[in-house]
Amino acid sequence: MGKAMDDRYLVSFVGQKGGVGKSALVRLLAVGAAHRGLRTLIADFDLEQLTSVEWNAARLRHGIQPELDARPMKSLKKLRKADDDFQLVIADTRGLADDLTRDIAQESDLVVLPTGTSQDDLRPTLALARKLARHGAEGRIVIVLSKIGRSERQLATATTAIEDSGFDLLPAHWPLRDGFQTDLDIGRAGREAPSPHLKIIAEAMETALFERIGRIGARTTPP
Ligand SMILES: Nc1ncnc2c1ncn2[C@@H]1O[C@H](COP(=O)(O)OP(=O)(O)O)[C@@H](O)[C@H]1O
Ligand SMILES: [Mg+2]
Repeated sequence: MGKAMDDRYLVSFVGQKGGVGKSALVRLLAVGAAHRGLRTLIADFDLEQLTSVEWNAARLRHGIQPELDARPMKSLKKLRKADDDFQLVIADTRGLADDLTRDIAQESDLVVLPTGTSQDDLRPTLALARKLARHGAEGRIVIVLSKIGRSERQLATATTAIEDSGFDLLPAHWPLRDGFQTDLDIGRAGREAPSPHLKIIAEAMETALFERIGRIGARTTPP
């Protein structure tokens, strides 16, 4: 691994299913990072969808500031070769976790697994978490309850299932809201929501993610 890569903090959003909110959270984090003044790259490994790349093009068309950098990425080798001096790289990955996803997770400083609250979503998510943990990502995995509805009971059941699994659960959740979808369609994400209520929710998610990033950063810094 090159020197430039060692200095970069790599966060990957992975999952075993499409539509769970990986790309939405990638973009939320990228916006938050830009506002923190971090030199940030979105590495879009989902070449079939290119969700984050297409979104960034819409963002440019709509003239939304700050400008972000999102690139299609075929391999980790390509990512290592990206010679700009990024502080944070956020990897968006495809719906079905494959060998590339496993390799990205292995190399990540933080691996985020968004999941819905249903057993249908939790089962494959926890299975993937165990698999990634076996392949070198142990201790760097965090699960996020994503696109959740309004049922307290569903939230409580899912929380218990994750706690029982022994994996870390991010203390902030990502609720399903029409406003977040509308925003993504026009090149905005996260804290850029026009509604103050959604903005608060997005900022809480941002803070929780950066709390993780900060903590791991502190742990890997030599004394
Ligand atoms: N919190 C949310 N509320 C409403 N819609 C959302 C939310 N997060 C994501 N979406 C929408 O759900 C769909 C799937 O989300 P996406 O982030 O692309 O999932 P993935 O990358 O896991 O496939 C997209 O149409 C996106 O706009
Ligand atoms: Mg996606």
